[in-house]
Amino acid sequence: MSGRLRVAGAKNSSLAVIAAAALAADRSVLENVPLCRDVMTILDILRALGAQAEFTAPGRLELDARDLTDHVAPYELCRQMRASIYVAGMLLARLGRAQVPLPGGCVIGSRPVDFHIRGFEALGAQVVTQHGFLKAHAPHLTATSYYEPRSSVGTTINLMLAASRIPGATVLQNAAREPEVVDTAVFLSMMGARVRGAGTSTITVEGTPDLRGAAYTIIPDRIEAGTYLIAAAATHGDVLIEDLIPEHVTALLAKLGEAGAVVEPEPTGVRVRAEGGLRPVDVDTAPYPGFPTDLHPQLAALLSVVSGRSTIRETIFERRFGYVDELRRMGAECRTEGDMVTITGVSYLSGAPVEAVDIRAGAALVVAGLQARGETQISRLENIDRGYEGLEEKLGALGARVQRVSG
Ligand code: EPU
Repeated sequence: MSGRLRVAGAKNSSLAVIAAAALAADRSVLENVPLCRDVMTILDILRALGAQAEFTAPGRLELDARDLTDHVAPYELCRQMRASIYVAGMLLARLGRAQVPLPGGCVIGSRPVDFHIRGFEALGAQVVTQHGFLKAHAPHLTATSYYEPRSSVGTTINLMLAASRIPGATVLQNAAREPEVVDTAVFLSMMGARVRGAGTSTITVEGTPDLRGAAYTIIPDRIEAGTYLIAAAATHGDVLIEDLIPEHVTALLAKLGEAGAVVEPEPTGVRVRAEGGLRPVDVDTAPYPGFPTDLHPQLAALLSVVSGRSTIRETIFERRFGYVDELRRMGAECRTEGDMVTITGVSYLSGAPVEAVDIRAGAALVVAGLQARGETQISRLENIDRGYEGLEEKLGALGARVQRVSG
């Protein structure tokens, strides 16, 4: 693959910022919002609660939450993605009560919401889980200091949302430091809350009941960027990924460099080239700024044809290995043991029918399919569509032969 490619806005930032926009009985305008299925789902949830939302230009979303009055989020929409839990923090802050379906188990791990619940309780909410719903009630939330049990992106964001209308300082300790947390904090500040420390492990939110709508541009998607950087190296290509924030992909760039790819900063982005054979690497996933769990499957796909033995230790999600059986169908030699996958590089992968069991597993199969001899058919595309906008057009523009057959 060769050429240049522009990264879309970050899916996971968009989900949080869209929920944040609904905190104000006002209108917000968000730019650089990706047209992917999870974004559509959170918009449908907010519409069901009374908000209005529409794309008025590519990437430009106008959201008006003046008429958001319902506190019961619909099961059919919420069960489709875990980020629907952000609606609970938003509704608690906005209406003082929330009834949101438990997101339930997910294919990459059990992913409970106990930290979210404990955090809401620390802010003074009464929370019960009943009949599959999280029901929270809080006529008066109170600013407090809360130590998060573990670095959790979702918990930190949800607690920032819940605290954003509380006067006084809510202090979140052991907070997640991911760029999506920072993006949400910046947007909340533009709405009128005072948020300090985002990007460190202590965040202070001084809320205000007078939040207002704001205009904001979502950051580029570091995971989408990373997926294409890996695809470029995997195909021994020469690709310039434009508009990404290079600091957001430092851990990946370091590993690609260690594997023997040439990674060069350019004025408009990052260029990756891989001419000769690559070397095996060992990786541990970790919270930001460590190597992201959301790029683990894609890296595994690349390593499956790198001569030698590579390992990836997964420290965030216990069932992130759903892609392994599918890669094996293509001839990869991967062995999982506990939280570790060991990959012994084979000389080539063979195209095969495979299944995208989750978003990033799907992306890994795309990377594998680009490297494989012959044709790879990926089913359950809806999972890839949850997180990637225009994947086939973007890859096609770089010279890959990718076609959406149905769905
Ligand atoms: N956890 C709990 N209890 C909780 C919350 C989290 O035990 O109440 C555990 C999780 O099971 C996991 C760990 O804490 O083992 C960290 O999970 P975290 O809360 O950070 O993950 P998340 O907020 O559910 C977000 C992204 C994921 C990404 C992770 C880690 C969104 C919408 N999702 O999930 O993105 O993998 O952070 O960076 O922002 C994806 O985009 O494909 C995706 C899965």
